[in-house]
Amino acid sequence: MGALLRVGVLLSGSGTNLQAIIDSSGSDYDVVVVVSDKPDAFGLERARTAGVPAVHVDPKAHDGREAFNEALADVLGAHDVGLVCLAGFMRILAPNLVKAFENRILNIHPALLPAFPGAHAVRDALDWGAKVTGTTVHLVDEEVDHGPILLQRAVPIERGDTEEMLHERIKSVEHELYPEAIRLFATGRVRVEGRRVVVEKA
Ligand code: GRF
Repeated sequence: MGALLRVGVLLSGSGTNLQAIIDSSGSDYDVVVVVSDKPDAFGLERARTAGVPAVHVDPKAHDGREAFNEALADVLGAHDVGLVCLAGFMRILAPNLVKAFENRILNIHPALLPAFPGAHAVRDALDWGAKVTGTTVHLVDEEVDHGPILLQRAVPIERGDTEEMLHERIKSVEHELYPEAIRLFATGRVRVEGRRVVVEKA
């Protein structure tokens, strides 16, 4: 068997997706580093508990977005990361980082893109009166919530849903979908053709 895919996760918050990714690791991929822009992100704590290096990269310690992204790329490179997973990372990546890991960065977004991009996707779907929303795993390009779609799963919106209730249901689907996407990547079944991602049969 070949070496496992080395995954680096970027996050800013609680890291329930990171937890799901760690819990599914070991046979196809390993999480080798977790990086946060926030020193107190609970996701860093989850990484430490799992014995994964947890690194805070302070945006304020760098002279601008490009330099901050260079620092992120340095940490990922130092851990020989083959796939970068954004899991609630609340910053827009700069072109230098996107280029350094071209077609090797995934993001998970709590809506069915291209509907409801941006930072308030769950609230926006509710406010719109949508009956179905969901979650999307996509490759990251230089535009926000825009790159080619790898996997999507729908989540019905129920009468009486609050943003919190709906987000919790979406997250429980994300916790299955994100590890599945990483496994596809790790087993070489993901081929990008322009805007389209072809998933090869096992
Ligand atoms: C998820 O809903 C994800 O779709 C979005 O940010 C949230 C992160 O949640 N990008 P968590 O930190 O993994 O719990």
